[in-house]
Amino acid sequence: MKVTLSVIKADIGGYVGHSGMHPKLEEVANEKLREAQSQGLLIDYFVTRVGDDLQLIMTHTRGENSQEIHELAWNTFLACTEEAKRLKLYGAGQDLLSDSFSGNVKGMGPGVAEMEIEERPSEPVIVFMADKTSPGAWNLILYRIFADPFNTAGLVIDPKMHDGFRFEVLDVFENKVVYLDTPEETYDLLALIGSIEHYIVKAVYKKNGDIAAVSSTTKLSLIAGKYVGKDDPVLIVRAQSGFPAVGEVLEAFTRPPIVPGFMRGSHFGPLMPVPFHYSNTTRFDGPPRVIAAGFQLADGRLVGPRDLFDDPAFDRAREHANFVSDYLRRMGPFEPHRLGEKEMEYTTLPSVLKKLEDRFKKLEE
Ligand code: 13P
Ligand code: 13P
Ligand code: MG
Ligand code: MG
Repeated sequence: MKVTLSVIKADIGGYVGHSGMHPKLEEVANEKLREAQSQGLLIDYFVTRVGDDLQLIMTHTRGENSQEIHELAWNTFLACTEEAKRLKLYGAGQDLLSDSFSGNVKGMGPGVAEMEIEERPSEPVIVFMADKTSPGAWNLILYRIFADPFNTAGLVIDPKMHDGFRFEVLDVFENKVVYLDTPEETYDLLALIGSIEHYIVKAVYKKNGDIAAVSSTTKLSLIAGKYVGKDDPVLIVRAQSGFPAVGEVLEAFTRPPIVPGFMRGSHFGPLMPVPFHYSNTTRFDGPPRVIAAGFQLADGRLVGPRDLFDDPAFDRAREHANFVSDYLRRMGPFEPHRLGEKEMEYTTLPSVLKKLEDRFKKLEE
């Protein structure tokens, strides 16, 4: 049976500030999706949030980029925004950058990761959801999961994985795509995806074409004066039987990569893996964090979730992330804690610098 797993997310108002989500918004979203399920549009759904980002995890049979599913997500976000406005939540409707729905939520503000799959006899999937960072945060993680034999034992010892994987990488500035195979082209892949604001992994496939992972990465587009496609990403990963084991997928998060985001989307910080109940971004609006919801699909039903980072085995990673946060924070407004100049072009810094333009005098020879 072919099933589509769609994860569509948006920030539709923070509680308090950008730190979390008011429970009322999740209630409204649950109502909307329950209604859609009873009408037969969805097989199943699960509503959750990470920090201030609302996550609609949905299964159906309408394929990727289905107008009806995208419209359902859009209308759900609109209904939640109304509630957010009533409560005067912070930045109500923040990620709804268009006045009207145009057939697909991509490029309208929300983030989207979808995969249509032939459900296996047992289909474990993990939905990773991050707040206070951007899609390049998955680059190092995906490399570890699918290409690093020191992370993923199966690459070496499982004949079903020994061939390696194919990475789909987007150039988000030029709107181009390139496919690279591992292990053959590992060094070429790394030459690109080490630049986490420019070359971003969109998806990973088995060499036979089966989808293994997909993220919410899109090209960058400027809409209503805001860059869309940079914010608070999601990632779906299939596990077991020819894909990395659940534990291999999770192992990739034990050494937190330093990622862009954090305060005002303008600072580097460590990506901290946390259980659902720790998803509020507090200190310096961070540190950036990620939750992992594990499901078994059963004829499209979402059996789960299991809160996969709710485990003392990740305590050391969290400690490490706190140590790195302390260390980076000492640098205050200096690079490399603050993002480099090029990335700061997408923030409010240019308007401050503009004020100083006239103060610069030409140096005498
Ligand atoms: P699979 O049977 O899915 O290949 O997993 C083997 C294993 O032992 C994972 O921990
Ligand atoms: P969000 O992208 O999570 O809304 O955070 C914005 C911000 O400015 C945090 O300081
Ligand atoms: Mg916000
Ligand atoms: Mg957010």
